[in-house]
Amino acid sequence: MSILFVSSEAYPLVKTGGLADVAGALPPALLKHGADVRLLMPAYPEALDKVLNRREGRHFGDPFGIGEVSLIDAQMPDSGMPVSFVSCNTLFNRRGGGPYQQASGEEWPDNHARFALLSYVAAQMGIPEEEGAWAPDILHVNDWQCGLVPAYLHYCDAKGLKSVKSVYTIHNLRYQGLFDPAIMPIIRLPANAMQVEGVEFHGALSYMKAGINFADAITTVSRTYAKEIQTEEFGYGLEGLLRLRANDLHGIVNGIDYDIWNPTTDRHIAQHYSIENIEAKQRNKMALQQEMGLPRDPDAPLFSFVGRLTEQKGVDLITDNLQQIVDLGGQLVLLGTGEPQYEELLRQAADHNDRISARIAYSEELAHRLIAGSDAFLMPSRFEPCGLTQMYALRYGTLPIVRKTGGLADTVTDINATAGPDGDGFAFNEATSGALLEAIRRAAEVYREPSQWRRFQANAMRKDFSWEHSAQDYLRLYEELGVSITS
Ligand code: ADP
Ligand code: GLC
Repeated sequence: MSILFVSSEAYPLVKTGGLADVAGALPPALLKHGADVRLLMPAYPEALDKVLNRREGRHFGDPFGIGEVSLIDAQMPDSGMPVSFVSCNTLFNRRGGGPYQQASGEEWPDNHARFALLSYVAAQMGIPEEEGAWAPDILHVNDWQCGLVPAYLHYCDAKGLKSVKSVYTIHNLRYQGLFDPAIMPIIRLPANAMQVEGVEFHGALSYMKAGINFADAITTVSRTYAKEIQTEEFGYGLEGLLRLRANDLHGIVNGIDYDIWNPTTDRHIAQHYSIENIEAKQRNKMALQQEMGLPRDPDAPLFSFVGRLTEQKGVDLITDNLQQIVDLGGQLVLLGTGEPQYEELLRQAADHNDRISARIAYSEELAHRLIAGSDAFLMPSRFEPCGLTQMYALRYGTLPIVRKTGGLADTVTDINATAGPDGDGFAFNEATSGALLEAIRRAAEVYREPSQWRRFQANAMRKDFSWEHSAQDYLRLYEELGVSITS
């Protein structure tokens, strides 16, 4: 079984969020099961800097008339897994900014061409370069940036195309890749694609809709989100189409990388600990309070947040509760970047209160220390397709406080009378600051009972979120599409 896993970001090469974590961990997990997996992504210079054994690969000419396109083949620095980069100087050879945005925070104006090209090349990979050359049985493609892959397979000159199947994974339906249909000739989509049965969405060209419409199978990153996106509240206008394709839509929850997120070996934290000596976690709390300039107070419940500062993450519900957290005797540490108004709110909160500390930055290392050093982790998301940070928190015995939506509903068990001794976090229903506060209060109450808290921490740390299960679910799905693991 040969799989080309296509993504616009992958840890540790380039990362803006959870998609990178998934693209960095799922392909190696599939590889362990005997699948022949390669990763395909754009040739961002900072990604090329980090890989091993770079060499020139296949050439594709100048398909969009904006520059020569070829592959750079290499190996991932950690797993050694094969990775290919779509190289096109005009589109990807840029320093500064990120994969989607310029340094100013604005989107790159040619994102339509950049990700259409990634998708076009991915689809072309289905045509072996010569007899016997490597070609995928499965094109596993992710989010709107790759949404055109199934459309290219459907519309474009399929001469020589191996019978490749496409799997389209939705990590976030909110970002859809909507563009002016005038670009269609440039990106080599035929004019007849611009119809309701094709890629048209309210007059625009939708990369997300293209993926949903034409993929052989669609997945999303938790069972609950798979149901939610078929409703008006979470569907962003695509709920009807998703309902139509419900039989081909599967929810497969993400795993987490246990080599990177492991409190017994984590090289970023002050003190290693495990379920056998959870009390040693306290040293990380002391270190964090010191690092973040908070009063040293072993008994204050220390709440944390790590993530993108956006409406999705419910940051405003946290900022509404700052004083309340302090009044409960708590402390709060936050790490994130995002919308300027939230960045400003957090800066001000930290300036005005010595029990609140905020770092407006992106730092992998500090994220580890926040998750290891805090007692409870806040994730009051309005929607959350899967969410990885709550799983990191569970793994580190840091009890998550989450809104019951998407992957948060599927991975956190509320501590309440019905769950009995089995809970491992605090879940609430409404996306309101009052509902969040109620959950924070419940957490603070349990925190005052150390033996209880310890038991719930142990429950959290015992949970298994390794990629093993999810990788098996994906392999089963590929097999359902008619591709055998031994082929
Ligand atoms: P999303 O993909 O919606 O942003 P996830 O929970 O799936 O949410 O994944 C977010 C990933 O990005 C996690 O690995 C998290 O630790 C990381 N992350 C987000 N913001 C920051 C930050 N400011 N510093 C370090 N890591 C961050
Ligand atoms: C998206 C979602 C997040 C998910 C991640 C990886 O960014 O917002 O919930 O965990 O993708 O699938």
